[in-house]
Amino acid sequence: MNAQPSADAPSQQRNAPALIEVRGLSLWYGEKQALHGVSFELFRGEILAFIGPSGCGKTTALKCLNRMLDGVRGLRIAGRIVMDGQDIHAPGVDPPLHRRRFGWVAQKPNPFPTSIFENVAWGARLHGIVRDRADLEAHVEHCLRRANLWDEVRDVLRSKAGTELSGGQQQRLCIARALSTRPEVLLMDEPTGSIDPVATRAIEDLLVELRPDHAIIVITHSMMEARRIADRVAVFHLGRLVEVGPTKDVFAAPRTPEARAFIAGRVG
Ligand SMILES: Nc1ncnc2c1ncn2[C@@H]1O[C@H](COP(=O)(O)OP(=O)(O)O)[C@@H](O)[C@H]1O
Ligand SMILES: [Mg+2]
Repeated sequence: MNAQPSADAPSQQRNAPALIEVRGLSLWYGEKQALHGVSFELFRGEILAFIGPSGCGKTTALKCLNRMLDGVRGLRIAGRIVMDGQDIHAPGVDPPLHRRRFGWVAQKPNPFPTSIFENVAWGARLHGIVRDRADLEAHVEHCLRRANLWDEVRDVLRSKAGTELSGGQQQRLCIARALSTRPEVLLMDEPTGSIDPVATRAIEDLLVELRPDHAIIVITHSMMEARRIADRVAVFHLGRLVEVGPTKDVFAAPRTPEARAFIAGRVG
């Protein structure tokens, strides 16, 4: 199945409150300010794409959401990130519990050098998602099916290491692994940035299939990819989020000079 154009997206819950609300987020790595007053919302059932030149703060903004930067020396954050009505930096929030609500997928597929089964079972076991062996087996199968990988690996679950798969399969395994903790939000930092075009389309189709049950942010350098799968796009420039809106509107008529220049200069 090919990804449908975002205009046909059935699932964005426009009337529901935002799952995550980011307000005036600024961030400094020591002396260097990487984010300047970034504000946006993320809804359940949508794919939001972050686009913009390298070094403009896309990965940093993504890592703030699941508190992945906690503990980085010299880090300072101002502004608010609210998830389900609660400030994620409030004293009562337990960072590991907060992080469990997110799955992370990196640009370069990074499966564990263990079996395919273990790659997916690990997180579920760690977080007590499953009760017993039979439950675990069913859960691993479910996650691999959701990642559109089951049919390709069902016969080698325990005999093949995750690292022995092709690049595109490895990335789908990493998505299955991310799904194994039942995250509400999927954060994807250029998930198709290092795989071939056919494997890329498989990942894009998969994200569209996962959309109804998740809130997804995907960083991409491909304008075509953003057009194919994103409901909305956020354009970053030098640490600022300069424009956010429905994909077709932003591409057809970017309102800011920075977004216009970036979109005009990129074709692939
Ligand atoms: N751990 C870090 N320490 C210091 N500076 C960083 C760190 N991570 C990123 N930066 C800087 O913050 C800016 C934004 O980086 P990043 O969020 O990775 O941008 P993008 O993902 O858009 O390429 C860049 O100038 C980068 O060099
Ligand atoms: Mg980045």
